[in-house]
This record gives sequence, C-alpha cells and structure tokens, in this order.
Amino acid sequence: QPRLVIAIDGPSGTGKSTIARWIAQELGLSYLDTGANYRAATLWCMKNGLDFDNPDAVDTQQITELIRTMPLAQDLNPNNFTLALDGEDITEAIRSDEVTAHVSVLSTRAQVREHLVQLQRQAIDARPRIVVEGRDITTVVAPDADARILLTASPEVRMARRGQQLRETDQNPSNVQNDVIGRDQKDSALVDFMSPADGVAEIDSTELSLEDTVTVVLAEIQRQQ
Ligand code: C5P
Repeated sequence: QPRLVIAIDGPSGTGKSTIARWIAQELGLSYLDTGANYRAATLWCMKNGLDFDNPDAVDTQQITELIRTMPLAQDLNPNNFTLALDGEDITEAIRSDEVTAHVSVLSTRAQVREHLVQLQRQAIDARPRIVVEGRDITTVVAPDADARILLTASPEVRMARRGQQLRETDQNPSNVQNDVIGRDQKDSALVDFMSPADGVAEIDSTELSLEDTVTVVLAEIQRQQ
C-alpha cells in the first residue's frame, strides 16, 4: 500500500489527540502522538535525576545525551496506543501534572527537538500509513505529508475542554489556565503552531462538536489527497 501520512498540529485543548486517533481508526492507519514522545522523554529525565527545580541550570547537552539512551517502545496501533520505558508501561504516568509542568524544559531546546524529530521520522518511515499529531508535524517533522491540518479553537473553549479531560481522568483541574495558556506561550518559543503554514488547512473547532470536527477533518483530508 502507498505511503499515506496525515499531519495534524495544534495547541492543547483542541481535542487534537482524540480526533487524530479517531481518524486513524476510521482510515485503518497507525497513530503517533508526538506530545507523548516529549512527555516520555521528560519522564525519563525525571527518573534519571535531572534537576527540574532549577531548569535554567539544566544543561541541554546533558538532556540530549540522556534521551539518546531512552529505552522507549511505543505501540502505534490507535486501538491500543501505549508507551513503555524499559518494559514499564508509562501510558498514564506521562499525563501527570509533574510531567506536564516539566515538559517545556525539554521542548524549548532546539537540540532536544532535533533528536526527537529524528525519532519521529524513523517511526513514520517504519509505518508510513499513519496519522501523526503534535505542534510541528506540518512544518518540521513531515512537511511533505499527504494531508496537513492545523486544528484550533478559542482559548476559552480549549480551557473548558482541558478541564473536562482532567476531571474525567481524576486529575486536578485547578491549574487549567496555566496548563493551556501558559504552556502555549512556552511551547511557542521555537515552534509556531498558532497560524497555518503555507498549504496547511486551518480547522477551527470552537463551534463544532467532536463528531462534527472529525467529519470536517476527514473531508479536508480527502480534499488534499
Ligand atoms: O500534545 P501534548 O500536550 O501532550 O504535548 C506535550 C508537550 O510536548 C507540549 O506542551 C510541547 O511542549 C511538547 N510538544 C512539542 N512538539 C510536538 C508535540 C509536543 O514541543 N510536536
């Protein structure tokens, strides 16, 4: 079967992961959540004693060397998307408040990104019929993708969706504003995921239900192919 890479970017709280996964299931494709890679790398650094309390003193070279040794395994089946570090399942652990709070220490460093982008490209080449979601997929990881979409929504709606997601997974929804808006700000330092690059279709889901967003995204994928 021919290569079919679908790239979906966007800020947090758009429902991007749910939608990307749903589309992969619908089209019978693999599914790669690159945010989960950044989270796994962060957890790996935490487990290896990197000092996240004092991020300015953390050396980029040290992080890069650490994540070069990361024993990450991921199942790219959208019905069973799981990650493991050294055989230990970390699918839930990477969603913790602590990992979420620390992840930008890694994602705001170009050298760290370069390494993770390389891993992501290898994952795509190994399973080239795939939906890939993140912040820089349409622009850096797979600018040659067969369909490229930027999923957006108003900040208010994104905060509300994120709050609901946290409540559903029994996490504390008290710092939603910081999680969504604060993280967008940090994440924007090296990557622009707020406006579509050339050839990328922006889909604003502010007024759309999850089901309707999936329908619109599927139609756009078909249009671009
Ligand atoms: O998508 P998710 O919220 O799980 O991503 C976690 C973090 O990983 C983001 O806040 C961002 O710092 C980083 N990330 C990134 N580039 C990507 C995907 C995620 O920098 N392509």
